[in-house]
Amino acid sequence: MRSAKYSGAGAAAEVVSVIDTEIPSPGPGEVLVRVGAAGLNPVDVKIRAAAVDFGPIIYTDLPGWDVAGVVSDVGPGVDEWAEGDRVFALAAFPAAAHTLAEYAVVAAGDLAASPSTWSTAQAGAAPLAALTAWQALETAGVRSGQRVLVLGGAGGVGHLAIQLAAARGAEVVATASPAKHELLRSWGASETVDYRDEAALAAIAPVDAVIITVDDTLPPRGAVAAGTSVVTITGLTDERRAELASWGAGPVERILVSANGGQLAEIAALAESEAVTVHLDSEFGLDELAAAQERVESGRVTGKVVVVVDPRV
Ligand SMILES: NC(=O)c1ccc[n+]([C@@H]2O[C@H](COP(=O)([O-])OP(=O)(O)OC[C@H]3O[C@@H](n4cnc5c(N)ncnc54)[C@H](OP(=O)(O)O)[C@@H]3O)[C@@H](O)[C@H]2O)c1
Repeated sequence: MRSAKYSGAGAAAEVVSVIDTEIPSPGPGEVLVRVGAAGLNPVDVKIRAAAVDFGPIIYTDLPGWDVAGVVSDVGPGVDEWAEGDRVFALAAFPAAAHTLAEYAVVAAGDLAASPSTWSTAQAGAAPLAALTAWQALETAGVRSGQRVLVLGGAGGVGHLAIQLAAARGAEVVATASPAKHELLRSWGASETVDYRDEAALAAIAPVDAVIITVDDTLPPRGAVAAGTSVVTITGLTDERRAELASWGAGPVERILVSANGGQLAEIAALAESEAVTVHLDSEFGLDELAAAQERVESGRVTGKVVVVVDPRV
């Protein structure tokens, strides 16, 4: 089968290739998925550029964690999935997986049934970003009637955080550059703010929770009230963390997403009721993986970048 591979650390155009490998066999508790599409995430390009483990995130030269496709075989002890099922998953994360290939072995518990309202490309693009948004909202304890600020509302995680928070009945404020504000509103944000406009940032009224998806970025002072819970998915220096605490913020937590088929099934249920969609920034073929990674590295992605491994799946 055709598989993406990195030859080492370096620029995408220099180290990304497609090679022939054996189709893997599913072991006990595992499922073989014929891959239709696999999403790309900033972690893919960080891992490729450095070729090292990042804390619990295990380096692999056979990349990819997101996947959507069709079950082609099941290993011993798997009775919840059968050949022909349409599935999607965040596979194994933060352990290594290998979904940027024509077939991928995925633990049965990481899989959920793909929503019928999403294309295979959308389902393949969603899992890591959607589970990150879901787990961030859970950690922040976001519930109906609360006000939530999403810093970075137009990216992969941000656009799903807006929709999932709105689906919980929260009122959502989100930041992005002005050209993206109409999209943010279509996803359920009731207030949109240009992150380069200091006066508009300063005018954001206090919120119950902040979800930070942009590196080392604090919410504006006025948005933080006593007890505002803050969840970041990116780095926050000790200095900035201390600054937040001095403003009276409640718990400040940094999370790392983990694979979870049960939560993915809950997200799929929201997709079935058309409460959540996946905005595709761009689609690439497996042979165009280097260009796809360069698009993610631009930092300007709106929604998700996806690799369509096999458009027939
Ligand atoms: N901890 C975890 O488990 C976890 C999971 C997923 C992702 N992450 C990390 O979270 C970060 C975001 O991931 P992602 O997939 O959402 O990234 P992404 O899709 O690449 O984000 C791109 C978006 O960020 C926006 N942006 C850039 N600077 C901004 C700013 N100062 N304020 C508001 N928006 C800004 C851009 O909008 P403009 O074009 O308008 O600037 C663009 O739409 C990455 O660092 C990623 O590694 C962590």
